[in-house]
Amino acid sequence: MSNDQRISQPLIAPSILSADFARLADELAAINGASGNRADWVHVDVMDGHFVPNLTLGLPVVESLLKATDIPMDCHLMIDDPARWAVGYAEAGSHNVTVHAEAAADPVALARDLRAAGARAGLSVKPDTPFEQYTDVLKHYDTLLVMSVEPGFGGQSFMPEVLDKVRAARHAVDTGHLNLVVEIDGGINNDTVEQAAEAGVDCFVAGSAVYGAQDPARAVSALREQAAPGFAHARQ
Ligand code: DX5
Ligand code: ZN
Repeated sequence: MSNDQRISQPLIAPSILSADFARLADELAAINGASGNRADWVHVDVMDGHFVPNLTLGLPVVESLLKATDIPMDCHLMIDDPARWAVGYAEAGSHNVTVHAEAAADPVALARDLRAAGARAGLSVKPDTPFEQYTDVLKHYDTLLVMSVEPGFGGQSFMPEVLDKVRAARHAVDTGHLNLVVEIDGGINNDTVEQAAEAGVDCFVAGSAVYGAQDPARAVSALREQAAPGFAHARQ
């Protein structure tokens, strides 16, 4: 994709993993408030019980979610053999489809297929996976999802040691070597969002911090406001 991925304000992507699965349409409406209280993306965690020990939801549920909201959908596939499944999420109308670097046999081909199906292509790295190993592969991608917890469950504690990867990715984008939205996932809340912003994150996934709040839409705008100074500082 040739368009510039640089964005002008922090993006907030609530994760519906922390929502009430019996009321998903209402939970999407709860992050679709007026102006600043609206989520930028909605993050959907697909887990297969193999790549990660947990099991969540799959394409039929995502197809229903796409009909229930106009917020761009950000599908995070924590699954083995993503080449078999990921393109379906793109064809269904997802805005961004992220696969794990550790699971993808041919990540360059997969990025090409995701883009051809109309989605942005995302690559995710677990906390122990070095980002540098994928620098060439990431030339074919639109988003990099840095995991700041071990994938599998919501509500875990943020791992600040992954911020070195965020800084390296921010540098690669700002020097023109990569053209990516830098996204972080896991343990983002009002105690951790500022340090992630200072390191250069563009898009902040937040599950329990949004859906555990009294007013999820207000929690979205509060996280965005809290991230804004660090976001600006990281790009000076
Ligand atoms: C974890 C998922 C995350 C999770 C984040 O494997 O990828 O998206 O929902 O939840 P919090 O924000 O509660 O850490
Ligand atoms: Zn996720």
